[in-house]
Amino acid sequence: MIQNGYILAIESSCDDTGAAVLYNGKILANKFATQAVHAQYGGVVPELASRAHQRNIVPVVDIALKEAGISAQDLSAIVYTQGPGLMGSLLVGASFGKSMALSLGIPSLGVNHMRGHILSHFAQRPEDTLALPSFPYLSLIVSGGHTLFVLVKGYSDMTILGRSLDDAAGEAFDKSAKMLGLPYPGGPLIDKHAKAGQAVFTFNKPRVANLDMSFSGLKTSILNFLKKEIVSDPNFITENLEDICASIQTSIVEILIEKTKTALEQTEVQDIALAGGVAANSALRQAFLTLAQEKCLSCHIPPFEYCTDNAAMIGIAGYFALKEGISPDVDSLAHPNLPF
Ligand code: KG4
Ligand code: ZN
Repeated sequence: MIQNGYILAIESSCDDTGAAVLYNGKILANKFATQAVHAQYGGVVPELASRAHQRNIVPVVDIALKEAGISAQDLSAIVYTQGPGLMGSLLVGASFGKSMALSLGIPSLGVNHMRGHILSHFAQRPEDTLALPSFPYLSLIVSGGHTLFVLVKGYSDMTILGRSLDDAAGEAFDKSAKMLGLPYPGGPLIDKHAKAGQAVFTFNKPRVANLDMSFSGLKTSILNFLKKEIVSDPNFITENLEDICASIQTSIVEILIEKTKTALEQTEVQDIALAGGVAANSALRQAFLTLAQEKCLSCHIPPFEYCTDNAAMIGIAGYFALKEGISPDVDSLAHPNLPF
């Protein structure tokens, strides 16, 4: 049976090169190389990302296999991120994964990156005891590229309930941080400065129907606010950095929590789950936990290493896909807009 034994997982959808090794659905190794090169450009440069993946993929896979204590010949399948993501980045991981599988005579399978985030709660090491979400659960995925609500009824039975119609929440953090002169990625820095500030400034809230969201209007509102204040006080940003960060963070968190409340009115779930890089945000984690307590729901937020882009979540999604009988497909191609 393919799903049993050792699986190598590869993630290369954006700017992190990840490799993980699983044994019977448990994580034995989860390694990655980040790409510092993008910081100086204020965002991910696709061409530089694919070149860095090319440099990193062999050593990262090698380190993951060593940490798991196995050799490539022990593997029974290889899964890799097929999409969505940056084409040049995806190509490196997909081509590498498929070629390695072919040379070893084992199956390979392309995995949807978003399904990886949604199932990231199931990425556990053999010794981990964190409670797993029960189906059906409401998942809020918040990353630099995506913001969406998904009703998860099974490992492969998922329905998108709503999504951001423009920028992702992580993008809203990063672009706001850029306006404040903070380096990329600015989300963690807004979180850090916000801890010492008060949310004394308010920005326009988007009005979007149903469970869809919007963050580009908020961005414009923040920009206009900063421009206006700088006219009367050129040092406004440096003098008020903590309060501005707290205000931006509060606005983004309020948008997400209000929509989560609406989602809960429309679904019958006992579990809610937060995942994606922005799940690292301290205010969002706290607000999500508080909401779960108020509604007497079980709350699931994975450890940080499984929140940001990582290969363990791709491995776990691949493991369940194989277990549910999805056929490995050597012809599957990297797809930047892979449908859900
Ligand atoms: O999931 P991820 O690693 O990559 C994507 O798939 O996009 O998410 C990265 C995003 C970035 O926008 C980054 O600024 C944001 O997650 N992020 C945070 C925090 N940590 C990471 N945003 C706010 N507060 C944080 N603590
Ligand atoms: Zn991601």
